[in-house]
This record gives sequence, structure tokens and C-alpha cells, in this order.
Amino acid sequence: MSMGWHWFVVLGLLLSLAAMFWLLFANRQRTSKGTTGHEWDGIEELDNPLPMWWVGMFVVSMIFTLGYVAYYPGLGDFSGAGSWSSQAQHDAEAARHEARFAPLYAELGSMDEEALAQDKRGMQVGRRLYLNHCSTCHGVNAGGAFGFPNLTDDEWQWGDSYEDIRYTLVNGRVAQMVPWGAALGEKGVVNVAHYVLQMSGQEHDAERAAAGAEQYNTLCVACHGMDGKGNKLFGAPDLTNDIWLYGGSLEQIMFTLNNGRQGNMPAQSDILSDDKIHILTTYIRSL
Ligand code: HEC
Ligand code: HEC
Repeated sequence: MSMGWHWFVVLGLLLSLAAMFWLLFANRQRTSKGTTGHEWDGIEELDNPLPMWWVGMFVVSMIFTLGYVAYYPGLGDFSGAGSWSSQAQHDAEAARHEARFAPLYAELGSMDEEALAQDKRGMQVGRRLYLNHCSTCHGVNAGGAFGFPNLTDDEWQWGDSYEDIRYTLVNGRVAQMVPWGAALGEKGVVNVAHYVLQMSGQEHDAERAAAGAEQYNTLCVACHGMDGKGNKLFGAPDLTNDIWLYGGSLEQIMFTLNNGRQGNMPAQSDILSDDKIHILTTYIRSL
């Protein structure tokens, strides 16, 4: 907050409190002054003092306000004598929560994968962790979406062993499919795309595919392999099945070739403890 706003809030609050205080006492009277002189249809308005209980509550609430902004943050930048902050409260609650569940996570974390996968409670915890940390990208049922891999199928860009998936979670993965438009040329992109269609068993133009195969064998094999089955070292997906991260139509394949794709799985090691990563790895592999 800038100094200007700080004083705007401080003065705004204190001056309006003072003004209300003044208003209350400036108009104070102890005894009835009879009527105000207003009269309508024989009905007259009495001019009585404010009830004492009401005045008392008003004063108490003003004192409460002063106490509140003295203790809690509220007066501009002044953080309050109590040093309360929502962040600190959140941290304290999170720490309490962590401490409460630490034994559970430690117990599940110490089980080996096989036993954990059979443990109903362990897999429930796994599902809950999944929903909290992963479902925004991979979907509530882990079925994935455009650009976000399905975690329930048989295709694994980065491998499906316990170690591979654990590595994916701890370190994240950055896929590097660079754009090939310039290297392939306009015609080359169409030809190679037809070759990819052929590899994946889709309708294609045989002549174009044959021309594309040559370029594939020089430019793409290093990552996607001679047989097109991919390579988990580079996260290069299998191009021979009907599982697509970015769509398997001619248009989508050409778009992939022209523009490249850089899927990014964020590292979780700063967010999740070792035990939680173990539980999640086991859960993902059980899907
Ligand atoms: C340096 C390694 C590398 C090379 C070389 C490479 N790719 Fe890729 N390719 C990848 C990676 C990694 C991905 C996954 C991108 C992602 O996950 O975001 C990918 C993705 C793709 C996809 C999308 C697959 C899907 O499921 O949607 C196609 C199609 C593809 N590559 C075709 C090719 C073709 C054709 C060539 C040669 C012109 C080629 N790639 C060269 C690494 C490579
Ligand atoms: C911000 C979005 C995002 C979040 C959150 C996220 N992921 Fe991912 N994840 C991705 C993307 C994108 C990829 C694909 C990376 C690539 O293109 O290679 C991926 C890839 C993966 C893979 C590798 C799949 C394969 O075929 O090898 C696994 C396993 C995975 N995620 C599990 C998880 C788990 C478990 C969580 C929760 C802790 C999680 N992800 C959270 C976006 C996300």
C-alpha cells in the first residue's frame, strides 16, 4: 500500500469515529423537551433523550472498534499489536493438519508398493492426493485432455515403471518436440504427416507417405524410433497407435510438425513430501 492510501484509511477511520462520537454527545439531552412541534392529524412527535442502553451500546461498539484495529491489521499499513496475519493463521492450521496426518503418511510411505496398492485406505489417500494436486490438469478420472496425458491407458511417454513415474513426479518433465516446418518445407510437412498417418494405421496418401518416410528416417528416428514406437528417454510418444496427446488428424499432426509441442509436467518435489510421492506413484500405477 502506498503512504497516501495508508493515511487515507487511517484518517478516514479515526475521523469518522471522532465525528460519530461528537455527533452523539453534541446532541445529548437528559430530559424530555416535550414535543418537537411536529404534528400531523393530532399525532405529535415526542422529543425524548436517547435511551441509555442504546447510547451505552454505541459507545461500547466504538471502543470495540478502536481495540479491534489496535490488535488486528486494519488501520492502513499498521499490522496491529497482535501481529495476526491470515498467512500465519493458515500456516499454523496447515502445520496442525500436517502433524495430525504425519503418522498416517509415514505409515503408508513405509509400505512397499505391492502392499500399498492392496491397502484400501492407502489407495483412498492416493485418490484424494490425486484430486487435490493433479486432477486440474489430468482430469478427475485421470483420463487426460488435449495436451494432458491420459494416466489410465497403456501409453507412457516417460515410462511406466515405478522409478520412471516417481522421477516424473519429483522432477517434472519438459517435452521438446521442436518445430520442423523450416527443416521439412511445406511439402515435406504434408508428406511426413501422411507417413505418421500410415504408421498409426489411418487413411493416408501412399505416395506422400513414401516420400515422408525418407525424411522421417533422417529427422525423426532419433527420438521416435525406426518403428515409430517412441523413446521414453526423450518423452517421444508412440506414433503407431491411436493414442494422441495433440490429436491424430492430418491437421493436428501438421500443426504439431509446423509449430512443435512442449508439454510441461511441473515438478512436485517442493509441494509433496517423499511419502506422498510414494503414495501417488503407487496410486497412478494402480489405475
Ligand atoms: C528431439 C526429439 C524429437 C524429434 C527429433 C522429433 N520429435 Fe516428435 N515429439 C517429441 C516429443 C518429446 C514429443 C511429445 C511432445 C509433448 O509431449 O508435448 C513429440 C510429439 C510428436 C507428435 C505428437 C504426438 C501426439 O501424441 O500428439 C508427433 C505427431 C510427432 N512428434 C512427430 C514427429 C515427427 C514427424 C518428427 C520428425 C520430423 C519428430 N516428431 C521429431 C520428440 C521429438
Ligand atoms: C499444470 C498441469 C499439470 C499438473 C498439475 C500435473 N500434471 Fe502431470 N503432466 C502434465 C503435462 C502437460 C504432462 C505431459 C508432459 C509431456 O508432454 O511430456 C504430464 C505428464 C505426466 C505424467 C507422464 C505421463 C507419461 O505418459 O509418461 C505423469 C505420470 C503425470 N503427469 C502425473 C501427474 C501427477 C500424479 C500429478 C499430481 C501430483 C500431475 N501429473 C500434475 C501436466 C500436469
